[in-house]
Amino acid sequence: MAVRSQNILIIGGGGREHAIAAAISQSPSLKRIYCLPGNAGTASFCTNLSIDSNDHDAVIAAAQKHDIDFTIVGPEAPLCAGIVDRFEEAGLKVFGPSKAASRLEGDKAYAKEIMRGALVPTAEARVFDKLRSAKEYVATRDTPLVVKVAGLAAGKGVIVCDEPYKALLAVDRIMGDREFGDAGNKVVIEERLQGPEVSVLALIDDYTIYMLETAQDYKRLGDHDEGPNTGGMGAVSPSPHVSNTLLDQVEREIIIPTLDGLRRDGVVYRGALYVGLMLTAGGPKVLEFNCRFGDPEAQVLFPRMHGDVLELLEACAAGRLMDAAIEWDSRTAVCVVMASGGYPKKYPIGKPIEGLRDAATVDDVSVYHAATTSMRSNIVTSGGRVLGVTALGNDAKSARSKAYKAVESITFDGAVYRRDIAEGM
Ligand code: AMP
Ligand code: GLY
Repeated sequence: MAVRSQNILIIGGGGREHAIAAAISQSPSLKRIYCLPGNAGTASFCTNLSIDSNDHDAVIAAAQKHDIDFTIVGPEAPLCAGIVDRFEEAGLKVFGPSKAASRLEGDKAYAKEIMRGALVPTAEARVFDKLRSAKEYVATRDTPLVVKVAGLAAGKGVIVCDEPYKALLAVDRIMGDREFGDAGNKVVIEERLQGPEVSVLALIDDYTIYMLETAQDYKRLGDHDEGPNTGGMGAVSPSPHVSNTLLDQVEREIIIPTLDGLRRDGVVYRGALYVGLMLTAGGPKVLEFNCRFGDPEAQVLFPRMHGDVLELLEACAAGRLMDAAIEWDSRTAVCVVMASGGYPKKYPIGKPIEGLRDAATVDDVSVYHAATTSMRSNIVTSGGRVLGVTALGNDAKSARSKAYKAVESITFDGAVYRRDIAEGM
């Protein structure tokens, strides 16, 4: 059978989208990849479209103009704003959950409601939409709390409080100072859990749950988990903390009941589901759901996929996941994120990046661009997390040493990165 050649659109411009683009670039059915907006890394083998992904009319018009056969949506913002529904209304094929299904990430109060109704293990939580009642509640608690804005806040709306009084300050920041704008109209206040943190990802369609290989994220800025939470400073796949037994348990006790809970609301989930878990003494408990691939988890998962990744994502979008097959590389992938000095707070941009070519010559290394742009003949930084340097190795030690060798050959003014990714594994 002749393979149809297709134009593919990837929405997003981070390391995750670069990794997806690289993985599907091997597909036999590919004609051309467009990235919207993409970055300097995707520009080397895709066509970047400088269109704002929040402008859904412009995105749909671009998809029609470029004869796009299939679109993959990377980040949560367009998903939660309903871009998938818009594509489907326009009769265009698209990968990602609908607006209603994306509420699992976009509205933490809704996610808690679904979990409570489906008896999914998660931190005990209360939801408030008034500053006063939130503070009254906090005042009655004498154990450590976590205060979260219910809406989307680019991974920054979670305040882990060691002392109960700090939760009062957190509530003030969110509901009084409105530091996170409307995303903080509601707060979720939950018990602080303890234990190792792991991410479990699955592809989901109407009939099938396909558990992906495991990955682990390094969320804190500094070595040995010091410093503020970030979007993720590195990742390893597979994760040594997740056994097959645990994966089965997460599928059975968390994913299936959550999907059933959504169905009772008339919502079918189709796309990637990311379950952030804490492995507590009382078993795995959900910290958060994300309606997409993780970033930088994608930068360690996609390099381990062999076979037609495009076909896998298309099968998921079409409800044919049951028939899709993919092979996993048995090697370990390690990704080290290089960020701008100052991230996750304020940081400068426009810093020229040197050494990218040398880094790419290290065996088994892929340098995924996360926030880069071309300026004259230079590639310069354009955001907080700038690059994700991934290496494959026979074990974590060898992958780690290749990743750091590549990282050390890259320089830009103020670059920061963790030195302990995959250390001791
Ligand atoms: P989230 O975006 O909800 O995953 O929260 C971001 C980070 O905050 C998580 O990756 C955890 O490190 C931490 N966190 C969130 N909820 C809790 C909790 N209930 N107990 C302890 N830490 C938490
Ligand atoms: N790495 C965490 C996330 O993608 O939300």
